[in-house]
Amino acid sequence: MTVTLEAQVPALRARDLGFRVGGLDIIKGISLSVPPGHFVGIIGPNGAGKSTLLNLLSGVLRPTAGEIELAGRVVTHTRPAVRARRGLGRTFQTSSLFNGLSAYENVRLAAQAHLGGSARFYRPPRARDAASISATGALEQVGLADQAHRLTGLLSHGDKRKVELAVLLASQSAVLLLDEPMAGVTADDVDQLSSLIGGLHRDGHTVLMVEHHMSVVVGLAQTIAVLDAGALLALGTPAEVVANETVQQAYLGQPL
Ligand SMILES: Nc1ncnc2c1ncn2[C@@H]1O[C@H](COP(=O)(O)OP(=O)(O)OP(=O)(O)O)[C@@H](O)[C@H]1O
Ligand SMILES: [Mg+2]
Repeated sequence: MTVTLEAQVPALRARDLGFRVGGLDIIKGISLSVPPGHFVGIIGPNGAGKSTLLNLLSGVLRPTAGEIELAGRVVTHTRPAVRARRGLGRTFQTSSLFNGLSAYENVRLAAQAHLGGSARFYRPPRARDAASISATGALEQVGLADQAHRLTGLLSHGDKRKVELAVLLASQSAVLLLDEPMAGVTADDVDQLSSLIGGLHRDGHTVLMVEHHMSVVVGLAQTIAVLDAGALLALGTPAEVVANETVQQAYLGQPL
């Protein structure tokens, strides 16, 4: 009897991905294969193309070359909403929440959309329906149960970042693309967000996280991808990447 071991289908895969605009190559031939449940940290100097890469993976931008697969299915030219339905969740470098709604309302909208309702109008909950239960659970999971009914615009920067994670939880996203989830938050919030995101990884989520806090990336990521000038400069374990001289040079001698 012959037993064939099939390779695990990557949760997310980019093949020779390119993005060219106005004669400039912003992303240059990036290939990356992320197994389910894996944590990839994405680092690189300002303007390296980290956010653009996440925009391509999530469908906000269309690549001009290459291919993207989500759980084995080609999604290169599908809209962000289609990728979201297939389990891809995304946070942005700047907050994308509705400041005029409460934290609970923001998260409930995501839950409502995931459960098949329209996310265009907020429906006041008449009962403890599935969307309400999901939103309440997600806010509890990020430690914001006591802030749930405050206006999002009045929350601290760190708490807004936690609401964004709750939105992804309520959307039942299996693959999380996080763009600088700890930028500009207090040291306390860095610790809390770091343990929250580590917890999501332990729960089985696949995570791609762009982050400038190197100690956090080194502590959480299994693989670190280093981008420089739109290209993948290095890919390896945190120890390999920190010891890599080319990486050190890309950071202009700054300690990693
Ligand atoms: N749609 C676009 N059209 C033209 N240039 C773009 C476009 N999107 C990004 N760029 C340029 O591409 C480069 C990469 O930008 P990107 O925002 O992806 O970098 P980043 O690594 O996320 O930087 P940061 O660390 O500052 O967030 C920058 O020089 C930016 O000005
Ligand atoms: Mg960016």
